[in-house]
Amino acid sequence: MSKIYELPALPYGYDSLKPFLSLEQLSLHHQKHHAAYVNNANALIERIETARQAGSAFDVKAAAKELSFNVSGHKLHSIFWNSLAPARGGANEPQGKIGEEIARQFAVFDEFKKEFTAAAVSCEGSGWAVLSKCPETGKLHILQIEKHNVNLVANFNILLALDVWEHAYYLDYKNDRAKYVQNFWSFVDWSRAELTLAQ
Ligand SMILES: [Fe+2]
Repeated sequence: MSKIYELPALPYGYDSLKPFLSLEQLSLHHQKHHAAYVNNANALIERIETARQAGSAFDVKAAAKELSFNVSGHKLHSIFWNSLAPARGGANEPQGKIGEEIARQFAVFDEFKKEFTAAAVSCEGSGWAVLSKCPETGKLHILQIEKHNVNLVANFNILLALDVWEHAYYLDYKNDRAKYVQNFWSFVDWSRAELTLAQ
């Protein structure tokens, strides 16, 4: 059977996000953790298809749960890599339409930054902070996703994602998630958020 999902290449080198993320931290995260979600999703889909063709029973409940976890893990990581870029220096605040929209809906950029940071730091266990947009209302919402797939809202477009699983930062920051989140802001690439905002 053909593979369904593929591990995307990073849009920068493994040593390009220092000092936010070391080469070792970034390469391990991408090549081992993200790759595992891709491989697990593909293997699961293959098992489901094989079982269907053979007329064999399989645990539908467990398969649905595993599919949601692994495919969401793959998709969120893909968004995360494209939410980052080598630091350009300066305040790195969003410009253009995304800058205007954040300022309009959150009053000021610092308020957005404060809310997003709180969502990231307070996530219990493994999860994500994301900035999303409801395509129906145009409103921007910060979501705190647990694991990869809990507290997502169907059909919301994700503009910006920050992985706060320990595997994302533990080599570089140990248990200091707050420092990792603080350093994230200098390495945000707002261009992906700008493109997604228009969708
Ligand atoms: Fe991750």
